[in-house]
Amino acid sequence: MDVIKRMSKDLTDPIERVLFSQEEIKDKVEQMGRKITEDYKGKDLLVVCVLKGSLYFTADLIRNIDMPLSLDFMSVTSYGEATKTSGIARITKDLEEDIEGRHVIVAEDILDTGLTLDYLYRVLSLRNPESLKICALLNKPSKRIKKNVRPDYVGFEIPDYYVVGYGLDYKHHYRHLPFICTFKEEFVPKD
Ligand code: IMP
Ligand code: MG
Repeated sequence: MDVIKRMSKDLTDPIERVLFSQEEIKDKVEQMGRKITEDYKGKDLLVVCVLKGSLYFTADLIRNIDMPLSLDFMSVTSYGEATKTSGIARITKDLEEDIEGRHVIVAEDILDTGLTLDYLYRVLSLRNPESLKICALLNKPSKRIKKNVRPDYVGFEIPDYYVVGYGLDYKHHYRHLPFICTFKEEFVPKD
């Protein structure tokens, strides 16, 4: 809690509590990086950072993967509320690299309903990668709509909390907090 007390009040007003500290995130991401290093040794690995939320996670994760790898970026937007359960999304920024025949890991900040990753997985599968895995820092299984979407690597499982920080946003803010925290009930976006 001290870390929040030291921050400016207009920033911290909606924040309830720190869920994962910088230290906890660092340890977890190190573990994930070690596991991926073991699993992919000697393979042609491409890590896909899903913008913008996965910015810090991917940056920290790849620095804990001890083997050659490539990094690329992708950005996806859902078509909005009306089509939410259909999972219709569109790519707003595509990969620059060709993934055919390569081992691909998609790094996401959070897996919630699964709509985003279900779409991404289907799009990327059509490009014939040698393998395609999902690596999510956070997993919120209680809200899953796409039950087939399961992360291969997970940092933390969380209940149905709205969380911000370490890349995760609320109305485009709070991404820059170095830790992950929950929001007070009255600020949680209703969906
Ligand atoms: P999904 O398509 O519902 O699985 O959601 C994935 C995207 O929703 C994530 O990449 C986030 O951008 C956003 N999201 C889901 N839950 C949260 C949250 O608790 N805080 C901030 N963003 C979230
Ligand atoms: Mg995201």
